[in-house]
Amino acid sequence: MEQDLYAVIGHPISHSKSPRIHSLFAEQTGQPVEYTAIQAPLDGFADTVNTFFERGGKGLNVTVPFKEQAWTLVEERTPAAEVAGAVNTLYLDGQQRLCGDNTDGPGLVRDLTVNHGIDLYQARILILGAGGAVRGILAPLITQQPLRIVIANRTPGKAENLAHLIAGVIPVRGCGFGEVTEPFDLIVNGTSASLHGDLPPLAPSVLGPKTVSYDMMYGPELTPFNQWASDHGASRVIDGLGMLVEQAAEAFALWRGIRPDTAPVIAALRDRVG
Ligand code: ATR
Repeated sequence: MEQDLYAVIGHPISHSKSPRIHSLFAEQTGQPVEYTAIQAPLDGFADTVNTFFERGGKGLNVTVPFKEQAWTLVEERTPAAEVAGAVNTLYLDGQQRLCGDNTDGPGLVRDLTVNHGIDLYQARILILGAGGAVRGILAPLITQQPLRIVIANRTPGKAENLAHLIAGVIPVRGCGFGEVTEPFDLIVNGTSASLHGDLPPLAPSVLGPKTVSYDMMYGPELTPFNQWASDHGASRVIDGLGMLVEQAAEAFALWRGIRPDTAPVIAALRDRVG
């Protein structure tokens, strides 16, 4: 059977787990999907995307550092992509126009609510960081109607700007790490601090006996942030592997019209990571 071609595009790209995830989805659903990884030159993102689709490619996932460029490049954006300011999934519509979606936020929400059974309705949520990763998750979190969201960041002004941009339906406040002391139901670490071997300097009082700590990073061991949260009394710590698989499943569903079962894929990756 002829395979439809998909790929993840980034720089660097060799570490990407997307080809394995999508191959497992294709195998499970019996869809004729071939999924590869493309490293685009840092100054050649648009050309690489255009060439891929001109040659008959059906869809792309976009990763670091091209998600913002993808947002600029597309002709149409889904509402989720529009607010996120970043695009992680590309496809052509019926008129062959390049369209962009962002499945990161829906992936996080689904991992929290479906895979981990966490009810976000009326929850007090603390989000750490104010970069691209955080911008992508805010609108989907708000759709769950939490009580309030506080965004804390090393550079407080960036958190304040993001809070202004998104506030409306529910209260959203932006501030520095030192300004939060009260306990939250959910803390999401969306900073890249652990890549630099750092921890956001947070007061342990943000952790109560029912606090769930979610680190968007993942690895074979507890992430440094989740280790800190666990040491200071968090009730549960969760890493971002489920979010990675769920954002991929959202993209696969958008492209193929069929949503794969993510549990066995998360388990297979956990074996590999762990
Ligand atoms: P991404 O697209 O992955 O979010 P980014 O836009 O560079 O990447 O944002 C990285 C986030 O991690 C920012 O919120 C950054 O804080 P600043 O806005 O102050 O730069 C945060 N961050 C990076 N290194 C950090 C560290 N060592 N400690 C705390 N926060 C850090």
